[in-house]
Amino acid sequence: MDSVTDTRTALPPLHRLPVSPARPPHPTTLPDGTPAWLVTRYHDVRQVLGDPRVTRADLHDVGTAGATADVAANPASLFNQDGPAHRRLRGTVQRAFTPRAIAGWQPWVAAAIQQSVDALVAAGPPADLAAAFTRPVPFAVTTRLMGLDGDGPDGLDEERLHRWTLALLAQGGEPDAGEPDAEGPGAEGPGAEGPGADETNRDAAAHADALAEYAAFTTELIARRRREPGDDLVSRLVLAADHDGGIPEESLVHLVAGLTASGNESVAGALGNALVYLLGERADHWPRLADPDTAERTAERLLHFIPLGDDEATIRRATEPIELGGTVIPADAVVAISLGSANRDPAVYPGGLDADLDLPLAAPTLAFSAGPHYCIGAWRVRLEMRESLQRLAAALPGLRLTTPVADVAWQLGTTTRSPARIPVTW
Ligand code: HEM
Repeated sequence: MDSVTDTRTALPPLHRLPVSPARPPHPTTLPDGTPAWLVTRYHDVRQVLGDPRVTRADLHDVGTAGATADVAANPASLFNQDGPAHRRLRGTVQRAFTPRAIAGWQPWVAAAIQQSVDALVAAGPPADLAAAFTRPVPFAVTTRLMGLDGDGPDGLDEERLHRWTLALLAQGGEPDAGEPDAEGPGAEGPGAEGPGADETNRDAAAHADALAEYAAFTTELIARRRREPGDDLVSRLVLAADHDGGIPEESLVHLVAGLTASGNESVAGALGNALVYLLGERADHWPRLADPDTAERTAERLLHFIPLGDDEATIRRATEPIELGGTVIPADAVVAISLGSANRDPAVYPGGLDADLDLPLAAPTLAFSAGPHYCIGAWRVRLEMRESLQRLAAALPGLRLTTPVADVAWQLGTTTRSPARIPVTW
């Protein structure tokens, strides 16, 4: 058994994961022992994420958290750059993600989701929604978006992408330095009941092989699209990067690999975790999701309140002293920003997750961050979540979990955790 799949632990479902309470910025310690300042209140988090003196790239100069040289936590990645280099690379992505392109994708994304719903209904109960829905849906969207759904050398099957993704997850997925442990919301994090040393070494070697294979696949893919561009996202990114100039090839490889694997996995995780909550604890609300407006508002609330994984904080460095709500974070401090705490700040969101799921949020969510690193895939997640919930509820109003939420087995990863199986009937 792979150390990051199918491990049953006593982990709480992500919708019940405790977060540090919202309070003024204060010193904490990261899991690797790095001293940091923890920021938890909604308004402090918004402010600090938009402050250009709080940077990401500087973390890599000092060997602190997130400074490993693997494909996941590479300084060449979009996420680990700041300032002009970051703006150039991000601008390239934005050229590919034009509102017109996104609008053009919506009809076939909806059609792909409907196809999965129809296949599920045709196969009949019982079913595992992870195998039959929450994984195939984002896989279909990802491969079509990136032009990896053909039979040629670009063709990608679910098993191969899953293997590469598990290797990325084991190494940190999208680079993020983990949760501060001072207030210990997740003392028993992923891997707490981990494998023995031999198994760990075998897994590490298998993951290294998988990552090398993935990097080679992506490098060759980019070369082919450069020679013969199509209408897919990889071609658009390559064309935009070559048009803009000055984008290192390594950054492009990292971007394409991340958009494919992490993009795919995060949607699967968000969908899976939302369904565990809805079917396990909000059966009353489920049939109401057949209404498209309710599905849209519910999707936003679930994305807001249910985190994607166990990591609590996203990490930055303060390059100058930063005053936040009366507290000064000193220059050079590592800053741990808890999006989860901010999204549950009772001063802004008094209702919390268990309120009416049909209510609009009281303030814009920070689930996708804010400021220069705002999530590039937010549009995609919202679209897939909304369409999935609406179409699934319309077709199967009696859908229900056949296992208690407490017995759900998890696919573990440092940045995402998702149900390994979602046993249902109707
Ligand atoms: C529920 C699913 C998702 C969540 C909750 C999420 C959340 C986030 C967050 C919080 C950040 C910024 C982290 C920070 O500021 O430190 C981020 C960045 C990013 N996300 Fe997502 N994401 C999701 C899905 C996706 C998908 C589907 C894609 C791609 C198709 C994607 C692509 C990216 C990229 C490329 C960045 C880096 C942007 C930059 O640094 O400029 N994400 N995401």
